[in-house]
Amino acid sequence: MSQKISKVVFPVAGMGTRFLPATKAVPKEMLPVFSKPLIQWSVEEATAAGITEFIFVTSPEKPSIISHFQSSPAYEAMLKERNKTDELELLKAGLPDNAKITEVSQDKPLGLGHAIWCAKEVVGNEPFAVILPDDMVLHTTGCLKQMVETYEKTGGNLVAVENVPADQTFRYGILDPETDDGQIVKIRGMVEKPAPEDAPSDLAIIGRYILDPMIMVTLDKGKKGAGGEIQITDAMADLIGTCPLHGLRFKGTRYDCGNKAGFLAANIAYAALDPELVDGLQEQIRTIFK
Ligand code: UTP
Repeated sequence: MSQKISKVVFPVAGMGTRFLPATKAVPKEMLPVFSKPLIQWSVEEATAAGITEFIFVTSPEKPSIISHFQSSPAYEAMLKERNKTDELELLKAGLPDNAKITEVSQDKPLGLGHAIWCAKEVVGNEPFAVILPDDMVLHTTGCLKQMVETYEKTGGNLVAVENVPADQTFRYGILDPETDDGQIVKIRGMVEKPAPEDAPSDLAIIGRYILDPMIMVTLDKGKKGAGGEIQITDAMADLIGTCPLHGLRFKGTRYDCGNKAGFLAANIAYAALDPELVDGLQEQIRTIFK
């Protein structure tokens, strides 16, 4: 029997350089996709997966992320005074009523592995989820919920995976599959950001993980990998003999909102779900591209 997943870590201390100057004063994770900031979509996905403890790994330069999820008494009082009940509900920002929020600081962006390691004390000795807010997955059942259900069968470390174009492997952690039933892939190794000719497959990790607490012991070593950063893929690879690693081919469409084209596509895809907008939106897009 695998343990219940009740904690999620959001590594949100990166620099967001690909979106400068927009991300000079506004964190990338606070950029809106359609109606909500990226980070709120992630929080809602975690809530739908049954998560109750939300751990934000933030940078001292990015205080607005945590503010978004804290109560704002002055704003609330103003809305109450004006009887704006729907708007008051929106202030919850996707958190469940029993949510516990914790903030830990990553003083320098030394890599994703390091950001996750910063949450070590708060995570404690239980398996936990990680969501990278700039990877969005659109599906009726959230990607993390799909993973939690799969984790009940696999245990160990579990990552969300998808096949990427062969010439794009240098952007991802790429897997060396041992067995593959079309949905769940057992992994025997992986390489971070390999050139296409060095890639063991075209199966890439995207920004969802369920990790065994043993990962923190491996991350303790502070081993630097690709790009001089402490990589979570290296830590998972080191553990394969002791802690099995599986990939889940999730259902849904992924948008890489860490780059401009993916971010814009996500905005359109989410806006297209709004029946009041869809017709006008289609018309405007046709006009732009005619
Ligand atoms: P990215 O690799 O997209 O990096 O991080 P970035 O700094 O956000 O963006 P660019 O490449 O400079 O444009 C993926 C996620 O991991 C977090 C980021 O905040 C983002 O949510 N991250 C990355 C950290 O929290 N700490 C790090 O040291 C690196």
